[in-house]
Amino acid sequence: SGCITFDEGYGNTGSCMSDITFIDGEKGILRHRGYPIEQLAENSSFLETAMLVIYGELPSEGCLRAFRQQVCKNASIHTGMHSHFDGFPSDAHPMAILSSMLNSLGAYYPEMSSNDREQDLAHFDETAALLISKVRTIAAMTYRMKMGMPFVYPADKRYTGNFLHMMFSEPYNEYIDDHGAGKALDLFLMLHADHEQNCSTSTVRMVASGGANLFASVSAGVCALWGPSHGGANMAVIKMLEEIHAAGDDGSKFIQAAKKGEAKLMGFGHRVYKNYDPRAKILGKSAEGILESIGMKDPLLDIARKLEQAALEDEYFISRKLYPNVDFYSGIILKAIGIPVEMFTVMFAIGRMPGWIANWKEIAENPKSRIHRPRQIYTGKTQRDYLALDQR
Ligand code: CMC
Repeated sequence: SGCITFDEGYGNTGSCMSDITFIDGEKGILRHRGYPIEQLAENSSFLETAMLVIYGELPSEGCLRAFRQQVCKNASIHTGMHSHFDGFPSDAHPMAILSSMLNSLGAYYPEMSSNDREQDLAHFDETAALLISKVRTIAAMTYRMKMGMPFVYPADKRYTGNFLHMMFSEPYNEYIDDHGAGKALDLFLMLHADHEQNCSTSTVRMVASGGANLFASVSAGVCALWGPSHGGANMAVIKMLEEIHAAGDDGSKFIQAAKKGEAKLMGFGHRVYKNYDPRAKILGKSAEGILESIGMKDPLLDIARKLEQAALEDEYFISRKLYPNVDFYSGIILKAIGIPVEMFTVMFAIGRMPGWIANWKEIAENPKSRIHRPRQIYTGKTQRDYLALDQR
């Protein structure tokens, strides 16, 4: 139809009005509710930034304390859900488990997942704290299930400390974080808190626009995040760096292959940033310090630095404005903390939960919001007449 504008991959289509996150891709600027990401990384914490993203303001001390308590209180999972884990084969991908579990979780809270906007909104504060808390528990339980290890119940600890406890403590050997893993993880999560209309957040908004509840909407977000062009890139980066290392390449052969279109430099390029992704800058800078405090020397960091240097000096990457994105250094940090590569995209999902929640809220609270229903340019056959079976 003549009046439909085609915009491949929505590169130039504003799908919504939003007050949450501002990005200037040309200048490499990212702000949540007006606050530059660099200031948040320096001074804030994941839960505080989550509140900022969701509610629009930095919380008072009392509000932050109450939110932390609410998150802590919600850390355990209904034991009825343990049997859901039993239904998965141990080689199931953690993202498949996470998405299914988040959707199933809604069934345990029918009053929060009614698909009646007014009712779901009336329970919004509880639901937000519950999801931010339980996504982390489900992630840790997924890892334990896959390893054939008993679940570890949450303890009265801070957000990331509790996650590491549920991941790595043993009944007679509690995980002790004596090297700043929790702090490093908190920074990782905070830097993933929101990123305007990326693939998964747009998916959450799309699902929400039909009136679906928050559990269903974030479960869809997890599926959208899974792919290697989006959240799955953090796994792909480590696989790429490991392959380069195993081949004895310093990265230069790989760069040549990427230029010929034979490989993709994972963790490079971004639809919006045509300059350095500010999150990659922060993570790239902190990677060294984090590895040092953990007492680890990772050859993959050297390879990543060489790849980055080579790409930034190469005409192919310069002319296409390809710079490191958030996934380029994040995997090295997660690996140093001891998170298995298969769980990397799940870690991204934990971090992105506040952004998905905030975007769902914007849709749900807007009385004027319409169902998202893009059009298409039809390229199929024109009208034809049905042929009987014996005539085909
Ligand atoms: N390595 C080599 N060439 C690349 C890369 C790369 N990583 N990314 C883009 N290009 C080339 C691409 O081949 C194209 O070249 P040409 O003009 O000759 O055809 C040009 O750069 C423009 O790329 P595009 O595919 O049109 O860009 P896009 O905006 O559609 O895709 C992207 C963005 C992030 C999907 C893509 O850059 C990519 O696949 N990067 C690697 C995967 C990755 O790191 N994803 C994480 C993104 S950030 C976090 C997140 O969203 O989860």
